[in-house]
Amino acid sequence: MKEILLFLLFFHVVSPVKHSLKFLVTSSSGVKNIPDYVGVLLVDEVLIGYCDSTGEKTEVTHDWMKKLMKDDPQHLEWYTQRCLLNQYIYKAHIDILKKQLNQTGDVHILQRMYGCEWDDETGEVNGFVQLGYNGEDFLAFDLKTLTWIAPKPEAVITKHSWDRDRPGNERWKYLLTQHHPELVKIYLDYGKSSLMRTDLPSMYLLQKTPSSPVRCFATGFYPDRVMMFWRKDGEELHENVEVGEILPNHDGSFQMSVDLNLSSVTPEDWRRYECVFHLSGVKDDIITKLDKAVIRTNCVPPSEFPAGPVIGGVVGLLLLAVCITGVFIWRRRNNGFKPANSSDSSSTDTSCVKDAALN
Ligand SMILES: *[C@@H]1O[C@H](CO)[C@@H](O)[C@H](O)[C@H]1NC(C)=O
Ligand SMILES: *[C@@H]1O[C@H](CO)[C@@H](O)[C@H](O)[C@H]1NC(C)=O
Repeated sequence: MKEILLFLLFFHVVSPVKHSLKFLVTSSSGVKNIPDYVGVLLVDEVLIGYCDSTGEKTEVTHDWMKKLMKDDPQHLEWYTQRCLLNQYIYKAHIDILKKQLNQTGDVHILQRMYGCEWDDETGEVNGFVQLGYNGEDFLAFDLKTLTWIAPKPEAVITKHSWDRDRPGNERWKYLLTQHHPELVKIYLDYGKSSLMRTDLPSMYLLQKTPSSPVRCFATGFYPDRVMMFWRKDGEELHENVEVGEILPNHDGSFQMSVDLNLSSVTPEDWRRYECVFHLSGVKDDIITKLDKAVIRTNCVPPSEFPAGPVIGGVVGLLLLAVCITGVFIWRRRNNGFKPANSSDSSSTDTSCVKDAALN
């Protein structure tokens, strides 16, 4: 499950007015039980479209998206054609890479993530294209120079050949800086009531054992533009605090947690602490006072637990897309390229919570 969450967290940016459009494509050869080609479309991290090499057309996941496709059948047709065409293009890419890198047989995975972020206040657009091959960063597009950046020597041959494709690179520029921002605006307009809503979370204080850190857990919020922290006597704390990542729930909402290590705090001082949740665009923060009486411990019967959301499951279709071992998942954190390390996730700590929820 963790892999799925990581997959959705590529390139995650939390900032007040930015919207995003993201295409994630995974093409594979030799991987059992997943289609050779899977494409998903996300707006503001919400899955809105899906296609794979086993289906004949693109599936959309929301009523507003269905309405859009009905109003504009060419839109759907375009995605469907694109999906078919891509299956061949990506397969060919993999074949070329295998040859260039003298790789034989077994398993190969090529992933591409592309799209844009659009700031609805300033109108600023940031486009991006990144490729991963067999779980590692392979190439990224530089919109300024219209060339490709190769973080590794293996990618240099491909970089040079793609750099020479000037018309292709001009097309990427057009897609990223004009077409995609137009798409985001159309989707946000059609999906306004769903994508532009604000949902406040349920808040919980959780603790595995009496000596574990206390976790302030928020689940069910939307959108994913939030701030969460602990404070003491009204001052934000940075020490003994571990801030978790924002994770998607299966119902399109999000969850996040912040842990506070209280091992050196005396019981009398507990009341000086509180957890603050701030959702962008909502004036009032949700304050949860640290109170032993309301802390839920981990090993409660699942029925008493906020079960569904904790699992952080994603639409079943997407599951297919990414049921690949962590090795294949590469992600980008902050501004640095970094290969995925499947043990590097603060969310692992919720294992017991997850188990409780899964029972
Ligand atoms: C692949 O193998 C050929 C011939 O054995 C060799 O000339 C070439 O340098 C190899 N390429 C790589 C990337 O290892
Ligand atoms: C909490 O802090 C104490 C010391 O302040 C440390 O020994 C302990 O390992 C910490 N616990 C966790 C789970 O980080």
